[in-house]
Amino acid sequence: GTPAVREGAPVTLTIDGRQVTVPEGTSVMRAAAEIGGAIPKLCATDTVAAYGSCRMCLVEIEGQRGTPASCTTPVRPGMVVQTQTPRLEKLRRGVMELYISDHPLDCLTCSANNDCELQDTAAQVGLRDVRYGYAGANHLDAPVDASNPYFDFDPAKCIVCSRCVRACEEVQGTFALTIEGRGFDAKVSAGLASDTFLGSECVSCGACVAACPTATLNEKAVKDIGKPERAVITTCAYCGVGCTFRAE
Ligand code: FES
Repeated sequence: GTPAVREGAPVTLTIDGRQVTVPEGTSVMRAAAEIGGAIPKLCATDTVAAYGSCRMCLVEIEGQRGTPASCTTPVRPGMVVQTQTPRLEKLRRGVMELYISDHPLDCLTCSANNDCELQDTAAQVGLRDVRYGYAGANHLDAPVDASNPYFDFDPAKCIVCSRCVRACEEVQGTFALTIEGRGFDAKVSAGLASDTFLGSECVSCGACVAACPTATLNEKAVKDIGKPERAVITTCAYCGVGCTFRAE
């Protein structure tokens, strides 16, 4: 998902040499998605308000200094945006390198393997090397919070994108989660009083689990028995051969 489609007066801009017209107030990221452009992202979804924290979605805008986050930058008429320059690719790889230097490398045995946005985005930006090693891995020794009967919270896998915090507030209207600390010490916390999900204001709605891009918030059932089969097998009704389709 990318930040949601807006309603408003039409605005025409150019993204990677292609013209696109979208309603006023739409983000540059969403406008790019409308013409098939997939700007790398980690903290944006189409269900919670854009936050601009992960810095993966940086773009270049003609006449503007710096590289703003496309998820929080609204379109302007006549804007000329580049989303895939060598400079942007290098910046994104650099940011991803920092994320991976601070993340456990247990992908093969992780329950989110092949269903992990961090993994997908690392591949999308072409990360091949982590020059800082992995020694900075943060919260690795922090215990998994397994207090909730339905899901676990593993701080070692958290990239502090705040998608869970925003989902809790915006989707569920509960304020069970917060981000504590800064920099490497930053962590998602389930309330200052109890420090566990079970003792917090959490109502177990699962909005945070659905929003998590990694295996930080993980349904216990998924962990134990694997991902649910989301594919649907259909038999084509066009002729009598009986070909089957697999729709994901
Ligand atoms: Fe834009 Fe994270 S997706 S800063």
